[in-house]
Amino acid sequence: MTGDNQKQAAARRALDFVEDGMKLGIGTGSTAEEFVKLLAERVAGGLKVIGVPTSERTAALAKKLGVPLSNLDDTPHLDLTIDGADELDSQLRLIKGGGGALLREKIVATSSDRMIVIVDASKVVKTLGAFPLPIEVIPFGAVSTAAAIAKIASIYDCHGKIARRCDSYGEPFFTDSNNFIFDCDFGKIPDPDSLARELNLIPGVVETGLFIGIATHALVGTPTGVDMIEPK
Ligand code: A5P
Repeated sequence: MTGDNQKQAAARRALDFVEDGMKLGIGTGSTAEEFVKLLAERVAGGLKVIGVPTSERTAALAKKLGVPLSNLDDTPHLDLTIDGADELDSQLRLIKGGGGALLREKIVATSSDRMIVIVDASKVVKTLGAFPLPIEVIPFGAVSTAAAIAKIASIYDCHGKIARRCDSYGEPFFTDSNNFIFDCDFGKIPDPDSLARELNLIPGVVETGLFIGIATHALVGTPTGVDMIEPK
């Protein structure tokens, strides 16, 4: 299977975990969009679910395809979240935020009993960090926050360019919560748990794209099928 087919296969397998009446967190990105399309087919066939989207982009697609939606204020406790990832390791630690939705994704995932990650095989890595780590920051004092990020990162042996994300017009990218994203090209993150904990203590940092201890399973599309990664 190609990468796109692997994403679709993982998304299809995720449907096996969706039960009638569930309240579902719905992720962001191309793999999550495959899931939304497949979910919409089931909804059209009579499945009753309520989805809480992790981005305006996902909300628009789900709405267009007829998936009933709610939000965390009206539906604060979810049964299951299905979302993609930019990288994951064998301990189910993730890098997320390539699509800029990491903050809402983390809030939704941690409001759920379970989070299932759907990815193609290229996302599984031995050591996190080849994908630049997205960090959502408050625009006020962002340059100072970047310096604080670099200082903390160096303590954990993470070095590399920290770049404010821009959109396709070269303008600053704003998240759905009107914040900036810094993409941190560390190459390797030897101690993701400590790095995530310490970065979150920087006042200007809203959240990092490190999802530690949140995912409960991963469904990985491979050239030959779908593998499941479970916690050790
Ligand atoms: C969105 O902010 C991200 O966390 C996505 O979940 C991640 O970028 C995966 O996207 P793809 O499924 O498009 O690779």
